[in-house]
Amino acid sequence: MARVLVTRRLPDGGTAPLVAAGHEIVQRADDVPFTHDELCAAVADVDALVCLLTDQIDAAVLDAGGDRLKVVANVAVGYNNIDVAAAAARGITVCNTPGVLDETTADVAFLLMLAAARLASEGERDLRTGVWDGWEVTEYLGVDVHGATLGIVGMGRIGKAVARRAAGFGMSVIHHSRTDTGLPGWTADLDALLATADFVSLHVPLTPDTTHLIDARRLALMKPTAVLVNTARGPVVDEAALADALHAGTIFAAGLDVFELEPIIDERLLTAPRAVLLPHIGSASVATRTRMATLACEGAVAVLAGERPPNLVVA
Ligand code: GLV
Repeated sequence: MARVLVTRRLPDGGTAPLVAAGHEIVQRADDVPFTHDELCAAVADVDALVCLLTDQIDAAVLDAGGDRLKVVANVAVGYNNIDVAAAAARGITVCNTPGVLDETTADVAFLLMLAAARLASEGERDLRTGVWDGWEVTEYLGVDVHGATLGIVGMGRIGKAVARRAAGFGMSVIHHSRTDTGLPGWTADLDALLATADFVSLHVPLTPDTTHLIDARRLALMKPTAVLVNTARGPVVDEAALADALHAGTIFAAGLDVFELEPIIDERLLTAPRAVLLPHIGSASVATRTRMATLACEGAVAVLAGERPPNLVVA
């Protein structure tokens, strides 16, 4: 029997693989996020760590785990919260949860695309606050999603799931990724995609190369009628530059599920016109979050049994 630290309460049934394997689960009763120091203390006497994307697993945490810590299993597909190189250097396995959240996240990308394009947040806000005083022929005029050109940046599993939805809306899909996908619509030229697309949806992982991939220069390439959607990671977009673009009206709208300094949201983004802002809910359906939790726990169980986990990031 191993000891497994699970940093937060997981959806019901999420820890079932740990229970089935007979491991001891260590969890805070109050479900309050660990501070960095608390996490270092808590990880000192466990064999495995099941963590969330909000836990920063840096070299200090890994060192605190000492020789006993064998595996860090992230309940997320993105693992930019983990110092993977430091884990590899210490022989600690890292695993994540790809594949099970693609459709759910693509749904939210589409929700943001539609809501931003059709001014849904603005309209609902006006209705709820009594500002709306009846149908007007010139009010709440958005841009059409159907028939438009969608530019997908990062054509992994989630990008492809978004492309499948776009087909149902009669959209033309172009996509950019660093290596040729061999799929129709691929372009090596991100700038050209930004200048062409009516909708741009971001689906790249956060790495040093993708940090501020969409910066002021690239935002300026977008059409004034274009809509930017980010369900990837906040720092992929230079948020201050995006706020500038929205305030200046150099792009039409934005739909964001992720932010640079979550949960802090740039004040100028909060006041920007035509911004639909969601609290990082891309994968937040009962079924998907439960599956992410069980998949991460399955990864921990596999490593503790001396096996290769299903979703190995690094060993
Ligand atoms: C969610 O943002 C994830 O990376 O799984």
